[in-house]
Amino acid sequence: MKKNAKFMEAIHKRIAAVRQYRHRAKKNHEKFHEIQDEINRKIKKEYMEANGFEWYYKHVKYSRIFTIIFNIIVWFLIFRYFGVRAAAVGFAVIIGFGGLHQFIFNRSLEKRILKPISQLKKGVDEISKGNYQVTVENEVSSEIKDLVDSFNEMAKKLSEGERLKKAYEENRRMLVANISHDLKTPITAIQGYIETMLEMDEITQDKINKYHHIIYNNAIYMNKLIDDLFLFSKLDMDKLELNLEKIDVSAFMEDVMEEFKYELEDKGIEFYYDNELLQSFNISIDRKRVHQIFRNIIGNAMKYGLRDNLQIKVKLYQQEDYVCIDIHNNGPTIPKDKLQHIFNRFYRIDYARTKDLMSTGLGLAIAKELVEAHKGKIKVESEEIKGTCFTIMFPKNK
Ligand SMILES: Nc1ncnc2c1ncn2[C@@H]1O[C@H](COP(=O)(O)OP(=O)(O)OP(=O)(O)O)[C@@H](O)[C@H]1O
Ligand SMILES: [Mg+2]
Repeated sequence: MKKNAKFMEAIHKRIAAVRQYRHRAKKNHEKFHEIQDEINRKIKKEYMEANGFEWYYKHVKYSRIFTIIFNIIVWFLIFRYFGVRAAAVGFAVIIGFGGLHQFIFNRSLEKRILKPISQLKKGVDEISKGNYQVTVENEVSSEIKDLVDSFNEMAKKLSEGERLKKAYEENRRMLVANISHDLKTPITAIQGYIETMLEMDEITQDKINKYHHIIYNNAIYMNKLIDDLFLFSKLDMDKLELNLEKIDVSAFMEDVMEEFKYELEDKGIEFYYDNELLQSFNISIDRKRVHQIFRNIIGNAMKYGLRDNLQIKVKLYQQEDYVCIDIHNNGPTIPKDKLQHIFNRFYRIDYARTKDLMSTGLGLAIAKELVEAHKGKIKVESEEIKGTCFTIMFPKNK
């Protein structure tokens, strides 16, 4: 019995809850419709305000013929029953009202249509003269508001396009100037040494060997410059297709670092690799390209780091959503004011010295583009005693 009563009580409670729920749902439903009606009313009002002439055109256009017929009948009746005088007074009143109406209508027409159109015309004239920094003011909400808005949007896009075109032109000009300069130097050297060999009647084998060596080095430099340029221009135009693979970062780094370790220790450089990850992560990378990033940065550490007792240390760790790799070397620091430029293409701090090192000044620009193509980041710090440290960050796979 007790069990039954409890069961009934639960059923009643459930029914009450369902009723309450239905009541609330009904209220919400009514409220929803109220809001919807309100919105519709507002939209209609806005539409009527913004499209007054359209409305006038639509509704008044067809009523004109009836107005004329109605007027003729009224005038006929006035003449017939009240005489000429009453007709003249009526006529004067109507003309007066008509004039007033015309005045108000013309003012509205001028404000809403003629003025914006004349401003639009001025804007179009400016654009045709090549001045894209133009905006047409649009204070009133009129029939041509959309047109004015579209015009302003178009002018904004044209202006942005012009800015990009100028930046691109400037970029291209600089690039051509740099390439010509960097190619001209080795070509002049090759030409000079060949001419010397041709012109000298007596030339020792030693000298010939030396000149051959110089010519060979310059040819290698040109080859490297052209390879780097080719890769850089592909990256610059977003034309490089990455062969992305999902890889385990710890395993990948282990392999790559072992390869560098043999190479560097062969050259008498101390090399350390440290994996500080507590667990391994997957990252999506193009192995060949990431290898190239390491080669460019470790290559720099070898070229510009300490001459004797050079140490290169690589550390793998995690920072928020990124897997980070520090590549550190001891040696002369990069001056603070130069740090911001070293990722720029063709930038070399000591041009005279780097020329002997077969430097094109493209290594870090390529590394940066490649890291960014992987949606990663690259940064550098260089401090006295501590040395120089490049940090590459790749996003972890989710
Ligand atoms: N680890 C470093 N220590 C000191 N200076 C560096 C280091 N790495 C780069 N730099 C400076 O930054 C400049 C730009 O480096 P980047 O790798 O872009 O060009 P590069 O080494 O001169 O030429 P490339 O790499 O194309 O052969 C270098 O010329 C050098 O002056
Ligand atoms: Mg370099």
